[in-house]
Amino acid sequence: MCGIVGVLGNHQASPILVEGLKRLEYRGYDSAGIATVNGGRLDRRRALGKLVNLSDALVHDPLPGTSGIGHTRWATHGAANTVNAHPHQRGRVAVVHNGIIENYRELRARLKDHQITPETETDTETVAMLCDWHLSQGLTPVEAAKATISELAGAYALCFLFQGEDDLIVAARKGSPLAVGWGKGEMFVGSDALALAPMTNEISYLEEGDIAIVTRAGAEFLDAAHQPVTRPRRTVDLDSVLADKAGHRHYMSKEIAEQPDVLANALKYYTMDKEGRHLLETGVDFTQFDRIVMVACGTASLACFVSKYWFEQIARLPVDVDIASEFRYREPPLDGRTLTLFVSQSGETADTLAALRYCTGQAGKVLSIVNAMESSIARESDLALPILAGPEIGVASTKAFTCQLAVLAALALQAGRQRGVIDAERLGTLTDQLRQVPGQVTQALSVSPQIKEVSAQLARYDDVLFLGRGALYPLALEGALKLKEISYIHAEGYASGELKHGPIALIDEEMPVVVLAPHDAMFDKTVSNMQEVMARGGRIVMISDAPGLKAGGEGAWQKVEMPVIEGPFAPIAYAVPIQKLAYFTAVEKGTDVDQPRNLAKSVTVE
Ligand code: F6R
Repeated sequence: MCGIVGVLGNHQASPILVEGLKRLEYRGYDSAGIATVNGGRLDRRRALGKLVNLSDALVHDPLPGTSGIGHTRWATHGAANTVNAHPHQRGRVAVVHNGIIENYRELRARLKDHQITPETETDTETVAMLCDWHLSQGLTPVEAAKATISELAGAYALCFLFQGEDDLIVAARKGSPLAVGWGKGEMFVGSDALALAPMTNEISYLEEGDIAIVTRAGAEFLDAAHQPVTRPRRTVDLDSVLADKAGHRHYMSKEIAEQPDVLANALKYYTMDKEGRHLLETGVDFTQFDRIVMVACGTASLACFVSKYWFEQIARLPVDVDIASEFRYREPPLDGRTLTLFVSQSGETADTLAALRYCTGQAGKVLSIVNAMESSIARESDLALPILAGPEIGVASTKAFTCQLAVLAALALQAGRQRGVIDAERLGTLTDQLRQVPGQVTQALSVSPQIKEVSAQLARYDDVLFLGRGALYPLALEGALKLKEISYIHAEGYASGELKHGPIALIDEEMPVVVLAPHDAMFDKTVSNMQEVMARGGRIVMISDAPGLKAGGEGAWQKVEMPVIEGPFAPIAYAVPIQKLAYFTAVEKGTDVDQPRNLAKSVTVE
């Protein structure tokens, strides 16, 4: 989603701001802009589309000055165009904003009484209008920003830059993350540490409701009650791999390839040895709970859905999985015997965060599984567990998904052991099987040439179905999600057994059907469903192991051979072919793989 960068520096701010925004590109955006103060004069440049358009605009019309703010916008209120792009400047103030100002209509109505009317369709412009009005009433810039912030309802990360003030940025956070970066005689602001990576790794995170008054000499922090407060300065470990794609054409491809390593790392962390102590002491006592309610969005919710099969089979613990945007407004009843579990790569997804807040104080425990441990979701949970995937830049989640699965699998084993459902021997077997996952993923990666050939075919179709049974059913949903989000091919996932209850009407030779069919206990039933498709002229892409392809592959249009996988954790390795299928199909179609249209990496609005 939107990204923010601010700098009070000793060099020209424009290139630093554009570089910072470049690092935030992965979040998804449709326009970009910067504002600077030069000799006291506040000015801005904005452009629709990719950052290269802003850079071009700056070549033709440079923006000098060593202080500035920048923004990448993902449109919420008002079309994606240059007029609605940030920074929004009214009179003596320019503002960049992530989030949504919910009371902007009310504020606009009040400002209209002072003959101040909007020039854009955005909620953000109202913040600049209001702040400029406060300045016109004789308030200083800091006072005007504070007064403005006090009147806002909704979610925001905000930066204010003022005419005549080239040593001041006022920043504020409520609901959207924001960090202040410390340099030597220079200061920075960014919506995440990554944006500030080339400038500094000394970061202070704003807490909810905080305001930061930033000058080149440092930052003063005020809490939600506008009282001075200290926010710790931390050194962030910014892995140098962030900067490049390690020889891959896209981040997505790099992140798919990293999975054996990151999974091995995560499993090493969570499974120490296969005897009784096999699991890291996570601090969750599963004997205290009668059920788990898992809440997440998109791919993260599908990781929850896969793990439902594991928790119910291995630990006999009932699991409800819900998508966050539905969960909260349904007002589901919770009690002390319910463990609520939130899964989020970014840890900032607005719907998931809102659902977590609904559960706080009502559920027995609020547990989260996140990639970004500094995130709001991690910080507001009773306990946050890391997935240790490393930074994920490609918008389509890949390695975060498989690491979420690995952590959830380890927790299911822990739950099974604590609840006395599995004995030491079974635990040892399952732990061994889980530890084999990184090797299986390595083998799965080697089927890329086959997948590439299948993708070249799939790219010619408009619709694709994915089928799976058991824990492979949510993976079929994930396969469809991945394909549609990056290749823009319409795709749906179904439980294999459900096909004949409706979707089979769609089957013809124009609708390829990808079947995830390891040679497991459900295999024969899945093959029957495949036969039903083939009998109606459907084209089957069968993803299975050697015994499966031998036993049921006859008549399949395309076949992809996976390694033989014993035990319940096959969905983790089977994630690889569906990721690759989406990836190669998107490459074949020439879409923007890492930044698909309309999508954002971190969805910080509801
Ligand atoms: C799909 C994808 C999204 C995210 C979803 C939740 O590839 O990446 O569906 O999984 O937006 O995001 P997080 O995990 O950051 O809460």
